[in-house]
Amino acid sequence: MKNLVVLISGQGRNLQALIEHCAAGTIPARIAAVVSNRADAYGLERARRAGIPTEVVPHGDYPSREAFDAALAAAIDRHAPDLLAMAGFMRILTPGFTRHYLGRALNIHPSLLPRHPGLRTHAAALAAGDAEHGASVHFVTEALDGGPLVLQGAFKLRPEDDAATLAERVMTEVELKIYPQALAWLARGDLSLRADGAWLHGRPLTTPATLDALEAAFR
Ligand code: GRF
Repeated sequence: MKNLVVLISGQGRNLQALIEHCAAGTIPARIAAVVSNRADAYGLERARRAGIPTEVVPHGDYPSREAFDAALAAAIDRHAPDLLAMAGFMRILTPGFTRHYLGRALNIHPSLLPRHPGLRTHAAALAAGDAEHGASVHFVTEALDGGPLVLQGAFKLRPEDDAATLAERVMTEVELKIYPQALAWLARGDLSLRADGAWLHGRPLTTPATLDALEAAFR
């Protein structure tokens, strides 16, 4: 059984999906700890309810990103993670940190990367007049929202969509499905990061997997 550590900053809806899939055995991992940079993140409550150890590393307590990332890595490594999932973790990470977890860490981002990295992705998709929007899972590397893509879910915008409806659609139609699936692949060893990018089921992912690739337990 693999040890998974989940990093959060907020609501923790993605975390909740991971808790449920680990409990059901559809992700073959146990969540060893949930780590937050904010003491008031609601996701910490979800973790406590599930009996999962929590750690808070407040970024404001550290004089630099390097010092924060060193404390964060120490908190994470106390739980001997095989896998690390950033689930709404809203801090930019230093190269030293990302190198330490290279190949073990995934992030979920609410846009069809490489479109709309960074914040306020739903407003950005609307402003750009995009026909489609969605979310992406990628390996964490030094490049902010720029690591090798693993799995994306897309849907067509509706005329009535605004930033709020898009946020909800991205979460329920895409994020809550693709993140557990990608973590199940990584936990099983079906997914790996190699020198030339992400590999799935023994083949290079020249384009990211899509919703069609979801196994029944993740649909
Ligand atoms: C998600 O949209 C995630 O993609 C983004 O932050 C949000 C976190 O939501 N990085 P939650 O904390 O999982 O509810």
